[in-house]
Amino acid sequence: MLLLLRKDYRTARFLVKQSEARWLDLGHCGQRIVAMDRFVVSGGTRLQGDVAVASSKNAVLPILAACLLTDQECVVSGVPLLEDVATMLRLLESMGVEVTRRGGTVRVRASARLETEAPYDIVRKMRASYYVLGPLLGRMGAARVSLPGGCAIGTRPVDLTLRGIEALGTRVRLEHGYVDAAAPSLRGARVLLEGARGPSVGATINTMMAAALAQGETVIAGAACEPEVADVAGFLNRMGATVDGAGTAEVLIKGVGRLGGAEYHPIPDRIETGTLAVAAAITKGRVRLTNCRPDHLEGFVDRLRETGAEVETTRTTMTVSAKSRARPADISTAPYPGFPTDLQAQFMALVCTAEGASTVTENIFPSRFMHAMELDRMGAKVEVNGNVAVVRGVDRLSGAQVMASDLRASAALVLAALVAEGKTEILRIYHLDRGYERLEQKLNALGAKIERVPH
Ligand code: UD1
Repeated sequence: MLLLLRKDYRTARFLVKQSEARWLDLGHCGQRIVAMDRFVVSGGTRLQGDVAVASSKNAVLPILAACLLTDQECVVSGVPLLEDVATMLRLLESMGVEVTRRGGTVRVRASARLETEAPYDIVRKMRASYYVLGPLLGRMGAARVSLPGGCAIGTRPVDLTLRGIEALGTRVRLEHGYVDAAAPSLRGARVLLEGARGPSVGATINTMMAAALAQGETVIAGAACEPEVADVAGFLNRMGATVDGAGTAEVLIKGVGRLGGAEYHPIPDRIETGTLAVAAAITKGRVRLTNCRPDHLEGFVDRLRETGAEVETTRTTMTVSAKSRARPADISTAPYPGFPTDLQAQFMALVCTAEGASTVTENIFPSRFMHAMELDRMGAKVEVNGNVAVVRGVDRLSGAQVMASDLRASAALVLAALVAEGKTEILRIYHLDRGYERLEQKLNALGAKIERVPH
């Protein structure tokens, strides 16, 4: 079926043609129509030049959800046009929130009476929809949010988030696939949010958002230290909250009676930074990344240097170059500031062509290795055993038809395709569009040859 789709770049809304005279407004989520796009990548070019990194997806999503905490207008700038952002805006709109978007600036006003339900239909598309739970409890004292279920990277429990909100006095019932949460009055408390696999980013942020409007003080012990947690706290404080220590393992929140509107520009995306850095190294190119925060990527930069890449940093730029074939390097994913799980797949692509064997240990999502089999189809030699993959470097990868399975796995396939001989066709790149803003345009501007082929 041929669908005519256009985007109104002023409002970033999508329109689909119904007849000569009529265009149907799909809102911000029209990108889903291009869901069947694929990439055709011609490998073999060295990437060179400058590229600017977008704002962090994983900071933007909870920040947009946090706008539910006030009836005043919030303005978030530098918001990347991602499918996940579109999903969050659609969820907010479905709750009665006014949302307008012009380019990268999103205005959110949650002034009307709010719907307090996040339905399965939206939550199943994006786990981060779960971030409305904390703000709804803080503002409305009630929330009904679908349980997200598992995803391509394995089981994703929510027990720590529930522990956090229950500690604040929320009554939680799990029924019909939904979390039914009620908290006529939230009260501050001390709560430990570290689980068997370490701290939880989602549980820390959700609890922090609910606690911002609770009575009294909340202490989150075993908090996730990721920069995105600190960034959400920065936004909450701009709204009038009192959050201290975010970005460390102990966060102190002094509840306030109400929050107001705020303007905010979220931090650069450290995962996009790392992905582009690998693109430079794997193609033996030289790329200067601007608008980034190398200090948010120390665990990753350390390992990248181990492969022989040269990495020069300033406060907001990172220049990555490589002259020869990568040396092998072992990685082991860990909570921040360790090696991020969200860069594991991309790094694996890099060591696939290293001179020797590397070990990749995944400690956060132990079965996150869907990309390994696809990389093998391109000639890589990856053997997965439990949560450990042994990657035996090969001289060359060869182009093949491969299937993207999740967001970061898709990025790994694009990176491998940049150096594979011949053409690689990557299907289902809608996974990529969830979290990278037109990655192919950024890479092509550096000399890559990637064609987006509409369905
Ligand atoms: C966030 C990121 C995701 C990243 C992950 C780990 C967003 C939108 N997503 O996901 O890209 O890969 O952090 O850095 O920001 N866990 C429990 N119980 C819980 C919650 C988590 O056992 O209630 C476990 C998870 O299974 C995992 C570990 O804790 O093993 C860390 O997960 P978590 O930090 O919660 O990940 P998310 O916030 O879902």
